[in-house]
Amino acid sequence: METIVKGMEGVQQAAEIIRRGGLVAFPTETVYGLGGNALDPEASRKIYAAKGRPSDNPLIVHVSCIDEVPPLVSEFPDSARKLMEAFWPGPLTIVLPKAAIVPYETTGGLETVAIRCPENRVTLAFIKATGVPIAGPSANTSGKPSPTEAAHVYHDLQGKIEMILDDGPVGIGVESTIIDLTGDVPTLLRPGAITVEELSETLGTEVRIDPAIIAGGVKEGVHPKAPGMKYRHYAPNARMALVTTRLSKERDYALSEEERAEADQMVAACIVRLVDADEAAGLRVGIICCEETWARYLSAGDRRADIKVIGRRSDPLSMTHELFRVLREFDEDGTERIYAESYSDRGVGFALMNRMRKSAGMLEVCADDQPTDVFRNGISPLAGLQPHADK
Ligand code: TXA
Ligand code: MG
Repeated sequence: METIVKGMEGVQQAAEIIRRGGLVAFPTETVYGLGGNALDPEASRKIYAAKGRPSDNPLIVHVSCIDEVPPLVSEFPDSARKLMEAFWPGPLTIVLPKAAIVPYETTGGLETVAIRCPENRVTLAFIKATGVPIAGPSANTSGKPSPTEAAHVYHDLQGKIEMILDDGPVGIGVESTIIDLTGDVPTLLRPGAITVEELSETLGTEVRIDPAIIAGGVKEGVHPKAPGMKYRHYAPNARMALVTTRLSKERDYALSEEERAEADQMVAACIVRLVDADEAAGLRVGIICCEETWARYLSAGDRRADIKVIGRRSDPLSMTHELFRVLREFDEDGTERIYAESYSDRGVGFALMNRMRKSAGMLEVCADDQPTDVFRNGISPLAGLQPHADK
């Protein structure tokens, strides 16, 4: 099958493909999605097949407005309406009890359905034109970084889907926040650009954080409520490790100017040492840092390591925007090891760090320990030490 790529002018054709049971990738403000008719079990099966995704991992159902929600759910609590009115269209997915018309193929066998209304004019027009809700996981091969531009989708799915609607690079760059409203307490299942603080302020209640987010979904005995959080995710081909300092971690990066300069120096020195050892061993190495620190990596010797600045750490959204693109670039370059700085978990930083930790398989080390050969046993000495761990 040939995969065609079109912009806004392709919306009607895309809608016809969906109504015939085919697949169309679509732009959103977070990442590109891989769409099929959410009410058609066969379309959902095709989505799993195209992505190579385990079929117990449910799909998010995309709607174009709040009025399209009631037929999809068996309960519609006030709390859900409040959040939809405050944040839709936008990067928030809400889990509710499903109605019978939503097939188990779409919900991965669950009695609940995750619903979201994305903020993108092409996709809103596309959903309206099809007249059905659109099931859509991120449009990447399962396990790979989510696509933040149409070219990424093409790379992963060409020949496997009928069409890609291209609306240029996305704005946010990491997937939507997911909140589960089916239990006694609203629970965050995946951090995104809408923060826990914003959610609890709008709801006027506390929002619990699913323990699996902190453990990365890889710890024994912790079962994430969002099944997708348990799989290895966003993984570049390279092995990747995050580097921090003990003080930064303890204070979640709330440091004085002097302390910050010292922490930056320790992290840079540690990364430079690890990079030099790897390069001496003939490995191809990459560094992920921010505008505030990048000059610290240029200083020494004839380093060949590829230094990628992903944004300003003072503005985590500038970094979410670049993270997945940078990971894909490292793949294209054949990079074998990546060392990345760690950043604060505050606000949108929680979403950024969640994706960075998962990309690194939860491997986060302290520069204080002067680590060598950090990939040897692959267990993070910092796992469980994340700032939200006590909530
Ligand atoms: O920003 C986004 O949400 C993007 C764009 C395309 O909308 N979509 C996306 O979908 O990230 P996906 O399939 O890559 O991630 C969906 C996540 C998975 O972790 C899945 O387990 C969880 O949502 N999920 C879906 N339905 C659920 C449900 N009923 N209960 C709990 N978790 C659910
Ligand atoms: Mg995904």
